[in-house]
Amino acid sequence: MSEFSPLKYENNKLIMIDQRKLPLEEIWLSYDNVEDIADSIKTMVVRGAPAIGCAAAFGFFIGVRNFIKNKNGNLNSEIKKIVRMLGETRPTAVNLFGALRDMESVVISENRDLYLENLEKTALKIWMDDVKSCKQIGKNGIEVFPEGKLNVLTHCNAGALATGGYGTALGVIRALHENNRLNMVYADDTRPRQQGAKLTVWELTKDNIPVTLVPDTAAGLIMSKKMIDLVVTGADRIAQNGDSANKIGTYNIAIIAKRHNIPFYIAAPLTTYDPETLTGEGIPIEERDGDEVRKVGDTYTTVPSVKVFNPGFDVTPAELIKCIITEKGNIFPPYKENFKKIL
Ligand code: MRU
Repeated sequence: MSEFSPLKYENNKLIMIDQRKLPLEEIWLSYDNVEDIADSIKTMVVRGAPAIGCAAAFGFFIGVRNFIKNKNGNLNSEIKKIVRMLGETRPTAVNLFGALRDMESVVISENRDLYLENLEKTALKIWMDDVKSCKQIGKNGIEVFPEGKLNVLTHCNAGALATGGYGTALGVIRALHENNRLNMVYADDTRPRQQGAKLTVWELTKDNIPVTLVPDTAAGLIMSKKMIDLVVTGADRIAQNGDSANKIGTYNIAIIAKRHNIPFYIAAPLTTYDPETLTGEGIPIEERDGDEVRKVGDTYTTVPSVKVFNPGFDVTPAELIKCIITEKGNIFPPYKENFKKIL
């Protein structure tokens, strides 16, 4: 079972693998202030909804710790400033806001050392709970999948890199592999940032899990040729009715899967479920820098001045999702009612 995590917490510092550099370089960056942690989320040193939540929790703790140790002033207004700074980094992944809420709910004790100890414990718990959830998601996922040795299509990276460890969509893929039920993972390239090519392929190759890289545009062909038994992706935010935001391109795949009668699953921890957002229409979609589309690597592949629309996510309507795999069980439609039952 893979124990890899994109985060480490050592000598009072948060250390994260620089996901922008993978797979060519494995560089670990060390963080001891909240400003740099916020920047690491924004610039995608760390990415993937649950991993963003974990990094934000440590950002909160480290920010408060530095304030208490080095500065005088109003702690409550500093906490508000920290929450705003971290909350403004990436708008779609709801795990970020959930983690900040958990950190804010730690009671501010007169004994500042005790308060810091409790904050540190809470950040560690958010991280460890996520790993536990991912492993359980893996176990639950294989129970709903079709029989036999499976060919699985996934999009983006919902692996150990995107979580506290183990992964959600890649968690169920790992569980399939561990149970000798996996034939092949087809990993979408995932333009523009290529999380599939760069991260999913790196992660699976490292763990000797069979993977074939395909361009995003091949989804229709490989499904029509019966090369795919199921699709599983992660999610950044699941609305109350089951509409699910995930990396741009997920919606296209879900439509093609429907056309070919191939089951489409979302694998996500309950920290990704947002009952306060009623439907997908209410999910904020992050727009990213146009250069992500204009360039491949550092090289422009278009007219550098061209106008670009670069949404980071899209929303797959609940009706296209066969089942949402969570750590508390596999949720089927109607999602609103069935999520209510397990929460
Ligand atoms: O922009 P990213 O790389 O943060 O997007 C990541 C995804 O879309 C993942 O599929 C999602 O966060 C789930 S990760 C378990």
